[in-house]
Amino acid sequence: MKSFSVAIDGPAGAGKSTVARQVADRLGLTYVDTGAMYRAVTWKALREQVNPSDEVAVTRLAQQTQIDIHPTDIWVDGVRVTEEIRSPEVTAQVSAVARIPGVREALVEKQRAIAQKTGVVMDGRDIGTYVLPDADVKVFLTASIEERARRRYLEMMRRGFSANLEELKEAIRRRDEADTTREHAPLRKADDAVEIDTTSRSIDDVVERILELCRTKVGGGE
Ligand code: CDP
Ligand code: CDP
Repeated sequence: MKSFSVAIDGPAGAGKSTVARQVADRLGLTYVDTGAMYRAVTWKALREQVNPSDEVAVTRLAQQTQIDIHPTDIWVDGVRVTEEIRSPEVTAQVSAVARIPGVREALVEKQRAIAQKTGVVMDGRDIGTYVLPDADVKVFLTASIEERARRRYLEMMRRGFSANLEELKEAIRRRDEADTTREHAPLRKADDAVEIDTTSRSIDDVVERILELCRTKVGGGE
């Protein structure tokens, strides 16, 4: 399935990376976490004390940064940053960085280059609408904000961090708002994407539904 591509978009905590990773494993495709790339640039900006809203400086930084994404690890200029890019500091600033057109251009170029070389399951906010408009299968995952905040809360607990459910909910709401209202490639469902509400569906259930969409596509049913 070399050139097959699956685009998975949706808001924070909808379950994109969890199901995308499993779908990629099951189909033998490469999983590409585009959110990790925006997080990587944000991490570097914070580390180099570049103001995340300085468009010129952050664009230059994005163009000059070597980002290597593997299914389980992310490297920035040869440094492994898999855990660091998930920190609350990076999470709080990432949408400001992701709204800069020059940053998006630099990262979208990398994302398309990967999808040209190999079959992918790519997750993000603008994959079906902008990065891979001709993807074979497009999925838009949603879930209620209460459920998405609850999932993030449980995740933080599992990782040994303290967390406040109401604060997490507010942070997710703010990020959703920034991602859906930005000018360049905002978060929205592609017209031809299949929407799946994951609020009360298990991970396995969602994975099976996406695999079914892929099988239908390969079989010429859609
Ligand atoms: O995993 P989570 O849903 O928390 O976020 P993520 O997928 O790691 O993405 C982090 C942020 O990067 C998002 O809130 C967006 O601001 C940005 N992003 C984007 O603009 N476009 C993408 N294709 C992926 C992420
Ligand atoms: O990538 P995104 O921000 O959309 O979400 P995620 O990081 O894949 O999922 C957030 C959390 O929700 C993870 O801990 C998943 O195990 C969990 N999850 C769930 O409980 N039920 C689902 N149907 C999907 C994800």
